[in-house]
Amino acid sequence: MGRIIAVANQKGGVGKTTTSINLAACLAEKGKKVLAVDMDPQGNLTSGLGVDKNDLSLTIYEAMCGECNIGECMIVHPLGSHKLNLSLIPAGRNLAGAEVDFIDADNRQYILKNILSSVRDKYDFIIVDCPPALGILTVNSMTAADTVLVPIQCEFFALDGLSQLMYTIDLIKKKLNKALEIEGVVFTMYDARTNLSLEVVENVKSNLDQFIYKTIIPRNVRLAEAPSFGLPINLYDSRSAGAQGYRDLADEVIKNKLYANL
Ligand SMILES: Nc1ncnc2c1ncn2[C@@H]1O[C@H](COP(=O)(O)OP(=O)(O)OP(=O)(O)O)[C@@H](O)[C@H]1O
Ligand SMILES: [Mg+2]
Repeated sequence: MGRIIAVANQKGGVGKTTTSINLAACLAEKGKKVLAVDMDPQGNLTSGLGVDKNDLSLTIYEAMCGECNIGECMIVHPLGSHKLNLSLIPAGRNLAGAEVDFIDADNRQYILKNILSSVRDKYDFIIVDCPPALGILTVNSMTAADTVLVPIQCEFFALDGLSQLMYTIDLIKKKLNKALEIEGVVFTMYDARTNLSLEVVENVKSNLDQFIYKTIIPRNVRLAEAPSFGLPINLYDSRSAGAQGYRDLADEVIKNKLYANL
């Protein structure tokens, strides 16, 4: 059965989407069957995989509303099957309505879990990109997930908000998804030229009792450029430091023995 990984941190701009796109693409490059799911109304995962988010009539939102099934909104191999075995459930602006639409719905925390249950056997990994908030969309993602992967940006306020995130994960584990585990923490946008990045890594390591990936994603301009070409880093600039970083992370995720039999 496929492993569902929610990439979450309620802090904005820490590298959730960059990690979702490139981890998904690097897992696919290593021969895994991968589905990427956009749970953010910003639709950055969708456009980062080359799909015009303004030109879609069926997205995750319609699937959540029961207006279509998952197969109808799925974009199979947006990058071409010869390149990567990677499919996408896209999102657009209307997903923002979910916070209000499902406010009174029964089982509103389980909508994504139910949608994914019919396809999870077909994939080795399902990567869910969460929005920068701890609302219904992130709760749905964590309820559907086996594990949560937390990107942490190497900046001064890195630890801010992390206790709230850990508390939320704990709450979801207690109330909605007993099997949920923390996949691990990955540092992003590491700048080897500054002492600050190193200090942040050391500080978080000594304050956070969680599995931390050995791979640290460097700050790399090619990673920032790739989405504007609608390409993941391994197709945009295969030899860049960013591509190497996400390939190493994919190796670690595959080898993460704790969850290998999920
Ligand atoms: N390793 C990196 N090197 C350089 N730029 C990066 C790197 N990681 C992310 N970025 C850039 O930083 C910005 C924020 O990254 P990203 O969109 O992945 O964060 P996010 O957590 O998904 O943001 P949001 O909370 O808005 O969803 C983007 O412009 C992205 O291109
Ligand atoms: Mg994002």
